[in-house]
Amino acid sequence: QKDGYRYFMEKEIYEQSLVVGETLMGRIKDNSIILDELSSLDLAHIDAIKICACGTSYHAALSACYMFERLAKIRCNVEIASEFRYKEPLLDTKTLFIVISQSGETADTLEALKMAKQSGMRTLAICNVDNSSIVRTADMTILTRAGIEKGVASTKAFATQVITLWLLTLYVGEHKKSMDALTLQSEIAALLRVPLILKVSETTHEKIRRLSKRYLHGHGFFFIGRDIFYPLALEGALKLKEISYLHAEGYPAGEMKHGPIALADSELFTIALMPKNLLYDKMKSNVEELSARDSTLLVISPEPFELADDFIKTKPHTHMMGEFFEMMLITQLLALEISIRLGNDVDMPRNLAKSVTVE
Ligand code: M6R
Repeated sequence: QKDGYRYFMEKEIYEQSLVVGETLMGRIKDNSIILDELSSLDLAHIDAIKICACGTSYHAALSACYMFERLAKIRCNVEIASEFRYKEPLLDTKTLFIVISQSGETADTLEALKMAKQSGMRTLAICNVDNSSIVRTADMTILTRAGIEKGVASTKAFATQVITLWLLTLYVGEHKKSMDALTLQSEIAALLRVPLILKVSETTHEKIRRLSKRYLHGHGFFFIGRDIFYPLALEGALKLKEISYLHAEGYPAGEMKHGPIALADSELFTIALMPKNLLYDKMKSNVEELSARDSTLLVISPEPFELADDFIKTKPHTHMMGEFFEMMLITQLLALEISIRLGNDVDMPRNLAKSVTVE
């Protein structure tokens, strides 16, 4: 069943191009976004979005928040489901409540959804499993089409979640008329390029395989990025810690000087996500500060960076989401290769279950 791949996680990483293509299928017609699942939603009545999720799905939610506000000009707020449940949140029926879940069975996400429903909010699930508890509970559902995900470390589910949320952002922007036609057109063009971007290049994979042997020891990893690359940094760190058991944190690059940089030395590995289309110079100066403190630097960028100890060159992309998806792929492969070198069970990491049905 692994079709020649060493682990399900590896197979699922390689499947991303295909499943993202499937998730996009039938969703775009005449430069317009088709989401018939939302036909009962009156967007004129909605002025904000709240998203609840856990783990990787929470990182997809954080990514979506940047898209909703930047592109659809709608206020968005994201909360970890287990926090949301007990904080006595103030809920508003003009806010659309979204939950994101691969399994559709995550206990905290399901309970958060029930709370929102009871408060009279309109609820939408973005989920990979039809007929799951979350799908049965929500008013509306958009199914991601990742197929069965076996690896405990989520990869293709995350890619399809972000794609679905991007589609949803464009749908909201189009229907609320907060996005102009030209922007919509160029976003759609960028969206359609993603399946190609997600095709794994054997050369890059081989380079990551070779590089991984330098990143097995040391006292930890910082994945850093800015803007939408910050949730991607969180996701990169989560992938690594789940399957390698190495300490890894994701940080917004601009926040390093407010404390975390105190940890920097040559035993601290920094994985810097440096896209060209977004805040490149800001990232550059954040990374320079880490280099000045001797942190070992792995830079992922289309632009060579002279201070980097290691460098993974990405393709030139005209849209930041092209860079997002290529960097997502690279961080997933990096976690995979480090875990394999360490001799871990990639698909069934210790202490973890694929679906967390208890709180
Ligand atoms: O099924 P869900 O998306 O609701 O699961 C949420 C998390 O438990 C899940 O994303 C977890 O963090 C993964 N192991 C991440 O790789």
